Amino acid sequence: MSGHGPALPMTARKSGPLRGIAQVPGDKSISHRALILGALSVGETRITGLLEGHDVLDTAKAMQAFGATVACHGAGDWSVQGVGVGGFAEPEQVIDCGNSGTGVRLIMGAMASTDITATFTGDASLNKRPMGRVTDPLALFGAQSFGRRGGRLPMTVIGAADPVPVRYTLPMPSAQVKSAVLLAGLNAPGQTVVIEGEPTRDHTERMLRGFGAEITVEDTDEGRIITLTGQPELRGRNVAVPRDPSSAAFPVCAALMVKDSDILVPGVSQNPTRNGIYLTLQEMGADLVMENPRLEGGEPVADLRVRFSALRGIEVPPARAASMIDEYPILAALAATAEGKTVMRGIKELRVKESDRIDAMARGLEACGVRIDETEDSLTVHGCGAGGVRGGATVQTHLDHRIAMSFLCLGLTTQQPVTVDDAGPIATSFPAFEGLMRDLGAAMTRNSAA
Ligand code: S3P
Repeated sequence: MSGHGPALPMTARKSGPLRGIAQVPGDKSISHRALILGALSVGETRITGLLEGHDVLDTAKAMQAFGATVACHGAGDWSVQGVGVGGFAEPEQVIDCGNSGTGVRLIMGAMASTDITATFTGDASLNKRPMGRVTDPLALFGAQSFGRRGGRLPMTVIGAADPVPVRYTLPMPSAQVKSAVLLAGLNAPGQTVVIEGEPTRDHTERMLRGFGAEITVEDTDEGRIITLTGQPELRGRNVAVPRDPSSAAFPVCAALMVKDSDILVPGVSQNPTRNGIYLTLQEMGADLVMENPRLEGGEPVADLRVRFSALRGIEVPPARAASMIDEYPILAALAATAEGKTVMRGIKELRVKESDRIDAMARGLEACGVRIDETEDSLTVHGCGAGGVRGGATVQTHLDHRIAMSFLCLGLTTQQPVTVDDAGPIATSFPAFEGLMRDLGAAMTRNSAA
């Protein structure tokens, strides 16, 4: 089992205005997919702007273990020499995906229709998360899996020697499950069909098309129907990874909360399956402008200009949940500084992320003096208004990078400092977070570096 070393407590204190340009890292979802699709292609894939967070580096190592050649040529500049669809070799060692649900679930899909066996593990957070949601549909292709009770890692997957194509309706909105099925479908003859009731992030579909697969997407009364023709020859290509809208949400929300802030976050993906948080912030009254909208590497991107704003609580439309699923922790922190209550419904999936994010946010906000109502699939935050949150707590982050970043951003505006018990996992998705926030003017310090 992997870990990230000793806990790294950090404290955030009331800060002056945040000012400057925040260059957030490459998109995590696209980075994983670029490495995996590169490995499943013939020839070279060149990736620029790759997120060099631990999650993605674990996926890069895994692709090497399955036989691809992965090399780094400079910051964010990577190449993958692929082995082609069906060309994965059997790894000699256990595949350790660290903290990454996306990594392990997509890789399981990518190997499940090849006649090889692989064993997967992760850190204490990942080893608690459900894998049955992926291994159930992979069994329909003919793959077998043997894990711990409750479908938990460590787990061995025996790929199907004679995979059959699958028609699968997603039981929950999950881009990871959709992607695992599509990646398994690559090495099955005939057409693999995935039906999703609510659209989830569509990077796999866009990128499969870009790598040369035949894939169609149809919006129907039944939902979104994605049809992939199996056994294509994927060809290596250049991938320019846009900046991550989920990571961008942290400096954006911090600037909205800290008085007189004014920052620019350039080149952030505004893919409509990912931009729900920005629509929500605008509805709360945020002074947030999408400047210079353009297409980069097939993804819509914009420069985000953000200024401190007095915010009001809203009811977040549940239909928007999939397009902002990773942003509820920072939204909950921000909502604590708004006037009135913010109601977030239809968010049951947050219970099975890197931590139970409803519980982690509720307990942390309560410790900071914020009133919370919680149900199995909802969270209501009673806002204290700008500058109104007490703080003065140490928050448990449960190995969850987004919980850690959310409370460190909140602590920039609270009356008393906020400490997180462990900021180490931030390196899984946003290794430069601390430096970037300090450069903007945020008062964040490591407690252990006395
Ligand atoms: C991701 C999908 C989402 C998201 C995760 C990244 C992806 O998970 O929470 O951070 O890259 O496909 P689910 O598929 O579990 O919703």
